Amino acid sequence: MTRFDPVEVHAAWLPAEAFRAIGSRRVLLCGEGQLVETVAHEIEQACARYGGSWRQREPGEGGTDLGPGSDGDGSYELILGLTSAGSLPSAADAVVERGALGEEGFALARRDGLTAVVADEPAGLLYGLFHVARLGEAAFAHSRPVELHRPAARLRMLDHWDNVDAHPVMGQVERGYSGGSIFWDDGVLRADFGRVRAYGRLLAACGINRVTVNNVNVHSTEAHLLTDRLGDVIAIADALRPYGIRVHLSVNFASPIALGDLPTADPLDPQVRSWWAETTRQVYESIPDFGGYVVKADSEGQPGPFAYGRTHAEGANLLADALAPFGGIVHWRAFVYNHRQDWRDRSTDRARAAYDHFAPLDGQFRTNAILQVKYGPIDFQTREPVSPVIAAMPSTRLAVEFQVTQEYTGQQRHVCYLGPLWSEVLGFRPWGAEGSTVAQIAVASGGGLVAVSNVGDDPFWTGHPLAQANLYAFGRLAWDPQLDPIAVLDEWIDLTFQPFAGEGTGGAKLRGTLHAMMDESWRVYEQYTAPLGVGFMVRPGQHYGPDVDGYEYTPWGTYHFADRDGVGVDRTRASGTGFTGQYPQPWSDVYESVEQCPDELLLFFHHVAYNHVLRSGSTVIQHIYDTHFAGAQRAAEMRQAWEEIEPGGLVTPALYARVRDRLEEQVRSAQEWRDQINAYFLRKSGIGDAHQRRIY
Ligand code: GCU
Repeated sequence: MTRFDPVEVHAAWLPAEAFRAIGSRRVLLCGEGQLVETVAHEIEQACARYGGSWRQREPGEGGTDLGPGSDGDGSYELILGLTSAGSLPSAADAVVERGALGEEGFALARRDGLTAVVADEPAGLLYGLFHVARLGEAAFAHSRPVELHRPAARLRMLDHWDNVDAHPVMGQVERGYSGGSIFWDDGVLRADFGRVRAYGRLLAACGINRVTVNNVNVHSTEAHLLTDRLGDVIAIADALRPYGIRVHLSVNFASPIALGDLPTADPLDPQVRSWWAETTRQVYESIPDFGGYVVKADSEGQPGPFAYGRTHAEGANLLADALAPFGGIVHWRAFVYNHRQDWRDRSTDRARAAYDHFAPLDGQFRTNAILQVKYGPIDFQTREPVSPVIAAMPSTRLAVEFQVTQEYTGQQRHVCYLGPLWSEVLGFRPWGAEGSTVAQIAVASGGGLVAVSNVGDDPFWTGHPLAQANLYAFGRLAWDPQLDPIAVLDEWIDLTFQPFAGEGTGGAKLRGTLHAMMDESWRVYEQYTAPLGVGFMVRPGQHYGPDVDGYEYTPWGTYHFADRDGVGVDRTRASGTGFTGQYPQPWSDVYESVEQCPDELLLFFHHVAYNHVLRSGSTVIQHIYDTHFAGAQRAAEMRQAWEEIEPGGLVTPALYARVRDRLEEQVRSAQEWRDQINAYFLRKSGIGDAHQRRIY
């Protein structure tokens, strides 16, 4: 039984209209291979719908000049061809030397009325096709000099936190806000994989090429995906392969004990090593293009190498060695900290943990091991500094991990477009203006980008229809981290609301409304939640809604230390936990200095008095009041803007209603945040609002 009817599933950024420009033209496809067949299928469907014509040149048929009017059966307006497919169209002849486009790149040009997409490998052709869809009519409007498109990162991965069995606390998808899993339903692999194939298509259209199918917390049933339930993984791999996506699997470090009946999982034990080697060999026998393993070890209760007195490099290398003969990769997560800290202990700082554990291991990981580092030192907060681990491991492959699922950013009940957050992180320069960016470090190391998916079996894929933009933006930024996130949002609007966005005043109005609601939505969310980078203040466990002291006296290491005089965490070298010392210059000194520290991170690094004057000129307490009033107000304005959209015209009534309902909740929740945070700090500080607004 599937809970979704494929017909009712929203098309996201690939409505049929997205292929009108292609489908109404005369198209020639040259090349062969599975992904070329996917391209052929797309073109065939599009032409059948929009009246165009197409032909696939047979292998060995090459040699003819494929310019307009020269191929015997009519002139072509669009040619997609592999460089290996014989002589290529005149528009593409000057493109590049064969091999220069790599495994996934493509070149695009338009000359003499012919648009040409050329790639070295089939995957490039698929990405080129989706690029033409993105351009729409613009791909055929005027001549274009040759453009080269190659992904920045080779590994652009989504991690699903899907469980096979619905977990008693975490449900079918851990931190999932979009219904059930698209792969499993209560212990059973779904019979209908139409949804999975549609997902693969959406991911290819935004540039994702890897998917980890199951939760990083690998429970007992899920551990079996590696062995006797490998069939599930094979099925998912088969469904995603036509879109150039390779699957990875989260594995439990203690699998040799749980699945192999061994007495130990010690990474240096010869039996353990051969168990992993043999088990991995069997995986590759069934899935030759299997991507590799993802491991959360010694983290939040998951087993790991510490139990055997081994390092995390020894743990990661065990799996890397098992995967190496087959070209596989292990993504080893750096999210390791003491989640059983005594809150009375002021010397332990969770922010320090990943660096303290991993920086000394730089250079000890195998070349097919990637250290997967969350972008901030704590846990996907709305505002955190960039993790110092990223600059500390020059001899290690590093993947930066984002969270598309909005665990801490409104759980897909709030509009929170995360492109600007990720873009800020990717553009951060740990060594100052002259040094590399985070994106350059991840790419140069051979690591790449990873994010936790926000997709489920919800008809809109992501619960909140506007949260689709986050998934799209992650893919696009992983492909090209330098893209402007607002331009990416614009692309998403164009594609998703295809029939309308570009046309007439209605389209312009919808585009304007969506930008007004979404461009700044991450900063708006920041305004009405935890102030100045201090983080958390969320309801424990569920992580939604305000609870200022909810985590204050718990073992989780996420504290704000508010008292009657001030608030914030002293992480300085001078008087605090010394965390600032984990950064290279200039940030080490910038963050250390209460005067130089950027306002938005002040309470992450410093404990200051309520009347401390920020760089903005406001005091901390007045800033808290002002931003909370402003943020809640802006949430109300979003709802107002949406109400001015005509349901049934520019957006379907179902989408309209879903967004409206979520905005209702966002406005309510933003007011709750505003009132709890303001009341809390008024009561703690005894300092009133300069503008005498109502605080409870
Ligand atoms: C957060 C989240 C957990 C998740 C963990 C992780 O702590 O709340 O549900 O397991 O991150 O990234 O491993």
